[in-house]
Amino acid sequence: MPSTSASPASLPDPRVAPTSGKAPARGWSFFIFGLLFLSLVQAAERPPAAAVASAHPAATRAGLEILQAGGNAFDAAVAVSAALAVVEPYSSGLGGGGFWLLHRATDGYEVMIDGREKAPLAARRDMYLDARGEPVAGASIDGPLAAGIPGEPAALAYIASHYGRLPLARSLAPAIRLADQGFRVDTHYRRMAEFRLKSLRVSPAAAKQFLLKGEVPPVGHVIRQPVLAETLRALARKGRAGFYEGEIARRLVEEVRRNGGIWTLDDLRQYAVKERKPVVGSYRGWRVVSAAPPSSGGVVLLEMLNMLAWKDLQAMSEADRVHYLVEVMRRAYADRARWLGDADFVDMPLERLLSAAYARELANSIDMKKVTPSRSLDNVRSEGHDTTHFSILDKDGNRVAATLSINYPFGSGFVAAGTGVLLNDEMDDFSIKPGVANVYGLVGGEANAIAPGKRMLSSMSPTFLENRDHVAILGTPGGSRIITMVLLGLLEAVEGKDVRAWVQQPRFHHQYLPDAIQLEPGAFSDELKTALIRRGHELDEKSRPWGNMQAVHWDRKGNFVEAASDPRGGGMAVVR
Ligand code: GLY
Repeated sequence: MPSTSASPASLPDPRVAPTSGKAPARGWSFFIFGLLFLSLVQAAERPPAAAVASAHPAATRAGLEILQAGGNAFDAAVAVSAALAVVEPYSSGLGGGGFWLLHRATDGYEVMIDGREKAPLAARRDMYLDARGEPVAGASIDGPLAAGIPGEPAALAYIASHYGRLPLARSLAPAIRLADQGFRVDTHYRRMAEFRLKSLRVSPAAAKQFLLKGEVPPVGHVIRQPVLAETLRALARKGRAGFYEGEIARRLVEEVRRNGGIWTLDDLRQYAVKERKPVVGSYRGWRVVSAAPPSSGGVVLLEMLNMLAWKDLQAMSEADRVHYLVEVMRRAYADRARWLGDADFVDMPLERLLSAAYARELANSIDMKKVTPSRSLDNVRSEGHDTTHFSILDKDGNRVAATLSINYPFGSGFVAAGTGVLLNDEMDDFSIKPGVANVYGLVGGEANAIAPGKRMLSSMSPTFLENRDHVAILGTPGGSRIITMVLLGLLEAVEGKDVRAWVQQPRFHHQYLPDAIQLEPGAFSDELKTALIRRGHELDEKSRPWGNMQAVHWDRKGNFVEAASDPRGGGMAVVR
């Protein structure tokens, strides 16, 4: 389907306005009229307001402060990321990584800043297996051996210097303030800390930073992080070198190695962000832009949309619609398991996976009357879960969708003493042994095996969606369920629903293995459940909802901006 995105090419040709001073009077009036017309059209190309939606009110406020100070959406993204690193330590941080999808309004340039963690140079494919070749329980989850080389500090410095308007130090200021002054513990913090209490207690620096006398702090307790504030100051002063070289780097490596990890100074010195070309496709006249490998997000999302394009979802009964969506999810996740990994290390058949012919072949293999058992599809895998997303639109029309992670709640639970940096456990996103399930009960394949310097496969799917009249910016945390959440949110947008519906709607998910439809409590009626069971589906109704979607909608036709933060989380969306 052709893309109908409004691009600079849709503006009137500026050459119609004469530029020569010798132009006759009639020419001048044309010139002035032309300029007026051009500025009106350009105004219509700019949103009437900016918007920030993030998983924490303090982070949203940090983004607004930077926009107010004259920063663009990219500066605000630096501010929001750094603030989240302080107030949502269980989701993302300087010790983790992420993907920042950017859209620059002046020229429509789109890029994904890949700040994904990398395996240390001393990493080996069997590093989490015992002498009998079996996984060592917890080895890829707890402590510094589970940590990949962080990408977030490098990404923030890179975004500020290549795309921002303000100095890095200005955009980091709100986060430094939050680290010094502290933030209040809420019930979500308590739940996350309770879940990871054992690991946090093992690391004295983590216990000091995140617990109170070794226990989960009560609601309202203020968490101050002066050591982290110092590390943020070093980053603000020296840019990337403030983290990856010098004193902070030395302490990180020393602490990691003293506690069983394998990082070296070379790992930190060599870390570099990558600019990746986003994955771009279309669905029913909408242009879809999403994360490129090493995230599986964009490829799996577009593969699903390509299959959906062969059917009219809106004309289907509810049972047919859910059945078809589930079968589409199953097939795309099977391909994820088999083919996807770090583009710098593995050749992936992306052209075929994203072709209409392949989508048709897969769509034709769907039996509308009964389930296709996953074991009949010859593939494997997926992963991790505690992560964060934010969406930003500025008044110039610049956009950011960013999904950041430290992986499991509170990452590896390990803080390198003297740095305030909580390390990720993103190494668990690799397939530690082909066919063996990771912490989320999912299995992986060869393309995502561990190798020195390789980036682990992700599901993070920051996404833009647009047609002539609308722009949508969305994404969510949620491990392997991220991509199906983005799909369901995107379908709501395409069907013309309000931005709140994108983030609110009940969720269901299929990821190939385990072979069951996961659903939020109460997501399906009894009638729908019976219809799906009759077709052979196994239902796994979870006791808790999932996801924390943050979305921004710019209605170009109606000339308004709206934003929404998932009611499942404690985030805040503001249009200003
Ligand atoms: N650690 C979550 C993800 O990258 O998908």
